[in-house]
Amino acid sequence: MLTLGVNIDHVATIRQARRTVEPDPVGASVLAELAGADGITAHLREDRRHIQDRDVKLLRQTVRTHLNLEMAPTEEMIDIALNIKPDYVTLVPEKREEVTTEGGIDIANNLSRFTDVVSRLQDANIPVSWFIDADKIQIEAAAKTKALFIELHTGKYADATNPEIELKELKALEIGTKQALDLGLRVNAGHGLTYWNVYPVACIEGIEELNIGHSIISRAVLVGLERAVKEMKLAMRNQL
Ligand code: PXP
Repeated sequence: MLTLGVNIDHVATIRQARRTVEPDPVGASVLAELAGADGITAHLREDRRHIQDRDVKLLRQTVRTHLNLEMAPTEEMIDIALNIKPDYVTLVPEKREEVTTEGGIDIANNLSRFTDVVSRLQDANIPVSWFIDADKIQIEAAAKTKALFIELHTGKYADATNPEIELKELKALEIGTKQALDLGLRVNAGHGLTYWNVYPVACIEGIEELNIGHSIISRAVLVGLERAVKEMKLAMRNQL
C-alpha cells in the first residue's frame, strides 16, 4: 500500500525564523507519527537553514516509523549519515541560492563518483534513494549506481499551469515509474504535492511512498490557529 513520508523541514523553518526552541520538529514528528505518518523525512542542508544537526540526532532516537534523511552527496553529509544511520537517505542536489530543491540530481554526468557514494552508504546498511526527474537517462544512471530507490521529482507536475501540461507530466511520472521498476529500482515520489494534486500521483501503480512537507505544514498552521488563539486567551487569564 502507498505510504506517506511527512517532511518536517518547515516546522524547523518557523523555529529558525526566531532562532528559538519552538516549534520543535522532533515534537512535530511524534505527532505526525501518531496521526498515521508512515515515515519522517528531514533535509539537513549545507546552510542549515531549517533542520539542524541536533534535530537529526534526536530524530534518530525518537522516530518509530522510518527516518529518511535528505541530503546532498557531499563528504560532510556522508559522514553525518554514516554516523546517524538513518533508515535510508535521499540524495538531492543543493544550490545555496535556491528556495527549495529545484530539480532532480544529475547522476548521468557524475556516474563514477555517485556510484562510489552509493556503495559507501549501502555497505553501511543505509539504503540510498536518488531524487531525480522522470528522465530515461537519469533513471538508467540511477540503476547503474546500484541504489535501491529513486524518488521521482513531482515538481513539474505540481507546477503545471494548465491541464494539458499536468497530464503530460503525470504521464512522464507513470512512464518513469515503470521504467525504474523494470530496472529493479524501488520508486518513491514527491515535491510540491498538495491536497488538490496528490490523488493522480497516488494512483500511479508501483510508487511506494510519497514525501510531502510544505502543504501539510501549511495546513497545520491554519487548522491549528483557532485553538492556538483560544489557548492564548486562556493563558492571559492564567486559565490554561
Ligand atoms: N522530496 C524531496 C527530495 C524534497 O527535497 C522535498 C522538499 O524538501 C520534498 C520531497 C517535499 O516537498 P514539499 O515540501 O514541496 O512537499
